[in-house]
Amino acid sequence: MKQVSRDKWSSKVGFVLAAAGSAIGLGNIWKFPYSVGVNGGGAYVAVYLLFLVIIGVPLMLAAITLGRKTQLSVFGAYKSIDKRWSFVGALAVICGFVILAFYSSVGGWVLYYFKNSITGKLNTADPAALTGIFTDMMNSPKILISYQLIFMLLTMMIVVKGIKKGIENSSKIMLPALFILLIIIAIRSVTLKGSIEGIKFLLVPDFSKITMDVAKNAMGQMFFSLSIGMGVMITYGSYLDKKENLLSTAVSIPILDTLAALLSGFATIPAVFALGFEAGEGPGLMFITLPAVFASMPMGQVFCIAFFLLVLFASLTSSISMLEICVSYFVDERNKDRTKTTLIVGSLIFLLGIPASLSLIEGSSFRLGSLAFFDVYDKLS
Ligand code: PFF
Repeated sequence: MKQVSRDKWSSKVGFVLAAAGSAIGLGNIWKFPYSVGVNGGGAYVAVYLLFLVIIGVPLMLAAITLGRKTQLSVFGAYKSIDKRWSFVGALAVICGFVILAFYSSVGGWVLYYFKNSITGKLNTADPAALTGIFTDMMNSPKILISYQLIFMLLTMMIVVKGIKKGIENSSKIMLPALFILLIIIAIRSVTLKGSIEGIKFLLVPDFSKITMDVAKNAMGQMFFSLSIGMGVMITYGSYLDKKENLLSTAVSIPILDTLAALLSGFATIPAVFALGFEAGEGPGLMFITLPAVFASMPMGQVFCIAFFLLVLFASLTSSISMLEICVSYFVDERNKDRTKTTLIVGSLIFLLGIPASLSLIEGSSFRLGSLAFFDVYDKLS
């Protein structure tokens, strides 16, 4: 009965944009470029692409197929194979819950940086000043929590509207906008004088750099970046019409995701090389190095605003998919109302996210042994 009234994507394109929106996120724009930086450049990219083709694409197809066949979100889909498998579905729902708790924390940083790019606070090429802005943010509970809250509210506002009106319509605007901005910034970056070293760093693999750790990191990155193994693609696939051809759909999502990751690499690494900064900086690449890079180039503020806007879009199209995994469980399996569920689940995720945010403050007691709660959630999920 409930299947009759179940929401659906209006078209295959709508589905692809929403699914690619889930895949393309902080994993591509924040993590991929800095991981390339710390894992030795082109060799990491080559291993990543290998895993993508032999593991990512088949799993993507399997997940979408399972969702579409059962027309159920992740818990129900696994349960319909065999009751004993329902715990895998339950794990996926919990996983979405936990990932969003710390993902929304970084989403909050992005929102704060977007605001700062507009006010011109990031308009400095002095790494010490930019480190100061980052550290001040990371030590201010008020900034961390309030921006995380706004980020969660934006996510909830989209999910509450449902599949077609909420997730699909917002992805149809945000994803193309993200690609346009990313292409403009990538062109700017690769045309800077001295960018060629950065381009080589990304493209020319030095296979002697491949170690077990590099391979492990590349595989982890592939799973996270494709949103694979967490129920998103099963859940999104369940809103697909049974008529749609799945193979082309399943291939187009990894292609778009990889394109976004590579474009992010080109938007950042060549500029970092051209302007004499360090590519192996790690997580600070986006929040400390890049603003300095933008401030060192002509019309830098415009590029800086465009950049943080696109990162915001990327994070939102991913965060809505995580919230949808959780909400769809209650709507499908427990017949709950979408609006109330979104409000309650979204608030609980926000509450769980507060210790994650606060755990990164210097001297914080939100730790499990030597790990901050933020990293505990990350490792756990
Ligand atoms: N794929 C997203 C990214 O690259 O940022 C992250 C993500 C989304 C992970 C949805 C898990 C998930 F269920």
